[in-house]
Amino acid sequence: MKVTKKYTKITTHSLQEMKQKGEKIAMLTAYDYSFAKLLDNANIDILLVGDSASNVMAGHETTLPITLEEMIYHAKSVVKGVNRSLVVVDLPFGSYQGNSKKALDSAIRIMKESGAHAVKLEGGEEVEDSIKRIIDSGVPVMGHLGLTPQSIYKFGTYSVRAKNKEEAKKLKKDIIKLEKAGCFAIVLEKIPAQLAAELTNSVKIPVIGIGAGSKVDGQVLVVHDMLGMNNEFNPRFLRRYTNLSEIIQNSVTNYINDVKTENFPNKEEEYK
Ligand code: KIV
Repeated sequence: MKVTKKYTKITTHSLQEMKQKGEKIAMLTAYDYSFAKLLDNANIDILLVGDSASNVMAGHETTLPITLEEMIYHAKSVVKGVNRSLVVVDLPFGSYQGNSKKALDSAIRIMKESGAHAVKLEGGEEVEDSIKRIIDSGVPVMGHLGLTPQSIYKFGTYSVRAKNKEEAKKLKKDIIKLEKAGCFAIVLEKIPAQLAAELTNSVKIPVIGIGAGSKVDGQVLVVHDMLGMNNEFNPRFLRRYTNLSEIIQNSVTNYINDVKTENFPNKEEEYK
């Protein structure tokens, strides 16, 4: 593992330095105080308050329904649990597309009301104006290209993106545009590994992959997926580091049995 320097606080500048020095960036999602505290204590570099909260926290089928107010609620809770990590918050669907003034207002609300450090939004040249306007106001922006779940109804599937030349060409143009617009980093989701490597080498800013192979500057996963809390989601790119759903279900079954058989509480667990 290449760790070049101990960072007491991660900033957008630290991430730039990590890319230059070849230290990989580790990013996970978080949506609440308790998880944020655990992940921050474990020294995660970036915590993403992802709009995947729409799926894993609210139970929606897509990321589209989550609102700006709900994202701010999750972000506020995450920020309270963090000392070291950089907290990035997704601008939700409908809060930035097609209107750069609205995008700016949404980003400012997130920063002011949650105390987060940066925002993320999906798309390439279509959202360039919004990105520039937000950055001009002093708010750092992370881009997101490749599979962009907020456009699921345009593409119709969550399959690997940019397998054809035309889409790959657009991606190559978009990543340069986002870098020029001033993004401090870019998430690349579910694209061929070789294309991801090329894109990563084409820019100076860090590129964080999810399903984009190993030749990028860092990796991101949804924390519920990598902890095995949802065993129905099995994409090729996902590595499960534990099986929390089994651990939780076994623990709850044991608790129920103990309550039903009057095994809990015992003498040591009651007050005199
Ligand atoms: O919302 C999210 O969790 C994301 C990651 C998958 C990158 O955008």
